[in-house]
Amino acid sequence: MKVGVIGYGSIGKVVLEKLARSGAVAREDLYVSNRTYEKIAHLGDLCRVCRSSGALAAETDVIFLCVRPADIRAVLEEIGPAVREDALLVSLNECVSFASMSRIFPHKMAKAIPNVAAEIGQSQTLVCYNALAGEGDRAALGGLLGCLGSVIELPEEELAMGSELVSCMPGFLGALFDALGRAAGERTSIPEGQILEMLLGSLSGTAALMRERGLSFVDVAARVATRGGMTEAGAAVLAERFPAVAGEMFDRTTRRYEEIARRAQADFQR
Ligand SMILES: NC(=O)c1ccc[n+]([C@@H]2O[C@H](COP(=O)([O-])OP(=O)(O)OC[C@H]3O[C@@H](n4cnc5c(N)ncnc54)[C@H](OP(=O)(O)O)[C@@H]3O)[C@@H](O)[C@H]2O)c1
Repeated sequence: MKVGVIGYGSIGKVVLEKLARSGAVAREDLYVSNRTYEKIAHLGDLCRVCRSSGALAAETDVIFLCVRPADIRAVLEEIGPAVREDALLVSLNECVSFASMSRIFPHKMAKAIPNVAAEIGQSQTLVCYNALAGEGDRAALGGLLGCLGSVIELPEEELAMGSELVSCMPGFLGALFDALGRAAGERTSIPEGQILEMLLGSLSGTAALMRERGLSFVDVAARVATRGGMTEAGAAVLAERFPAVAGEMFDRTTRRYEEIARRAQADFQR
């Protein structure tokens, strides 16, 4: 199977390098193209470097479109005449719908949305497929995405909340734990670096315990919060205030997603 990556920006670079360095795709079967050729000219040791996306599309069976929403239409128009009949087009963007992309040309399509942990092979990559894609496409793409981490299939209409739960979540956790670390730092002489290590250890240890013992978040909270103790006092503050904050956060991100999607789709209506 020959695989192409169009767009060598932040995520295209991760996808290409993971596919190559994990051995998922051999050098001679891996292709890259980018609007600015100079950025990919040095990649000859990893893959075949193409002068145009059309040339890439003429050779490949799975094509990753790693470009911003505003550039998807131009890429589809460029590769349309060259795409092989059986090729699978995989957009890395969640906002531009299959219906919009199919207005340029109808084809087998998927979306794959990795998160930042793809860089260390620990992404939870969301995938969805249009009606033309079949079981063989699922198996092929699932196999390729394994080099980024695990794969979660969702219906297209659930990609918005899915993206919040896996793509945005590292950012949400970052903001949340930064606030926790700062509040702790104002009340202790424990050095900042050690506070960070303690929080990270709590995060990964709690996740591992929950997985190994099949616990829910409520179970784990109940295990720690003894009646009348410190954890119960702290958890009561969170129970009182945090549900409203979490609800507001998801309401705002959903509104923002809808705005971005509307703008992205508009480009396909002309
Ligand atoms: N960054 C992430 O962590 C992440 C995670 C999941 C999904 N995504 C999605 O992935 C897509 C790309 O995001 P990004 O952050 O990687 O963007 P980026 O860093 O701006 O990279 C976009 C790349 O696309 C290239 N490009 C633009 N138009 C092109 C064309 N017509 N033909 C060939 N190449 C073209 C650009 O080339 P130049 O060198 O000429 O600028 C650039 O290298 C977006 O849709 C985003 O939503 C990103």
